[in-house]
Amino acid sequence: MKNLLAAVLLAAVSCGATRNLTFPDGFWFGAGSAAYQVEGAWNTSGKGESIWDRLSHSKQALNPQTETADVAADQYHHYKEDVQGLKKVGFNFYRFSVSWPRVLPKGDLSVINQDGLDYYNNLINELVNNDIVPIVTMYHWDLPQHLQDLGGFANDIIIDYFEDYANLLFTHYGDRVKWWITFNEPLSFVNGYSSTMIAPAVNAPGVGLYLAAHNVLKAHARVYHLYDDHFRSQQRGKVGITLNTEYPMPKTNSEADINATEIYLQFQLGWFAHPIYSSEGDYPAVMKERVANKSRAEGLPRSRLPEFDEHWVKYIRGTHDFYGMNLYTANLISLSNTTADATVPPNSDMGSIIAEQDPSWPYEGLNSFRYTPFAMRKMLKLISDNYNNVSIFITENGWCDHGEINDTMRARFLVNYYAAVLDAIHLDNVNVIGHTTWAFVDTFEWFTYSTRFGLFYVNFTDPARPRTPKFSTTILSSIIKTRKLPEEYLDKE
Ligand code: NOJ
Repeated sequence: MKNLLAAVLLAAVSCGATRNLTFPDGFWFGAGSAAYQVEGAWNTSGKGESIWDRLSHSKQALNPQTETADVAADQYHHYKEDVQGLKKVGFNFYRFSVSWPRVLPKGDLSVINQDGLDYYNNLINELVNNDIVPIVTMYHWDLPQHLQDLGGFANDIIIDYFEDYANLLFTHYGDRVKWWITFNEPLSFVNGYSSTMIAPAVNAPGVGLYLAAHNVLKAHARVYHLYDDHFRSQQRGKVGITLNTEYPMPKTNSEADINATEIYLQFQLGWFAHPIYSSEGDYPAVMKERVANKSRAEGLPRSRLPEFDEHWVKYIRGTHDFYGMNLYTANLISLSNTTADATVPPNSDMGSIIAEQDPSWPYEGLNSFRYTPFAMRKMLKLISDNYNNVSIFITENGWCDHGEINDTMRARFLVNYYAAVLDAIHLDNVNVIGHTTWAFVDTFEWFTYSTRFGLFYVNFTDPARPRTPKFSTTILSSIIKTRKLPEEYLDKE
């Protein structure tokens, strides 16, 4: 990642010039979801148990108040209605994920669940018949529990199993699905190998997450090459990965905070982006160096960060047709003056770095999801500058509240984040394919239903799970129709 610091500091903000509020031809609008967060039907028609089923049920057994996604928005039974909702808003595409254990209940090819295959087949047909492009994420965190029992992403056999699963998806759906995302937010889900907070709740800090990430990168590359070797010439689709990092900016102009921001970026974004998107490949040098030094100081015989040999560096490098970017907010980065802030890796490997938010940035649902539209333009430019002007697909971006139907803040969020996307396109020449609003319907937000991202309100206490379009859908509809942003929702500069 070259010149990252310069990009952080120099990313220009729009400075009073009249903004171009028109979307270029070909720019796509869509909405997203993930299987575990919306489908429900957790044990219907042959679906196997996932690591999220296991974790939420075991937490519920200890505390009956714990929410699960056993039913969630029940999209499994409401998919036709949801496709009509997408169509009504005017969306060009729907990003959804396939539940691996729904099609392969044990994760491997020993059992293929025809009902599961049929479900996604029907969903894809319903979308295509309504002129909505399906964009499919292969893995959005719900690993078959059976594979977890073998170690999950900590065991490199997962690379073979993931390839088998991807092969099945390309074979069954690749005639109609042309956009594939291998993994969603590895930076987030590998935390399941360093704490008990999220699935699979393997508490191996400093080791588990680096190991899991290593195998995720290899599995991603394996599937990209599988597509190249066996499917691309016929199916002519695209394969990428979705990465996330909230836009990090130095808290002050001090050299210490500027350096801390650079290190933080490499440990968050560079960890996954550098091996795939940089010209050199491999993990960022600063990350290799710091984890190796720290491991040595801990008396370990080798670095806790596994190494790629030359073959793997080359094999992983360049395995992308686009960059999937999830972006919600910004973070202020500073160097702490106490090591107490960094006792657990990767934080302790980075050094004592604090990521926090400005309390003046507005929020409604969760105080870590604050309103920072400037972050969108800056992050797009940073990625474009550092990764050879790669085409960026914004695969998630959205606002959370507590379920307001009259969600004027979500409308403001979308208009102003869109305006920042347009600044990146028109003023910074960033290549942006499209934007995905997260989420289409209210979802299970990984243990809670009270934080709501949906464009459609879901009544989770009604067994029929009725949907109600929120106010923001009317604004979105008109933006998509006119391909222009309404001035009245734009923040005054
Ligand atoms: C990113 C994750 O991919 C998604 O599952 C989650 O709901 C959103 N962030 C909001 O937290």
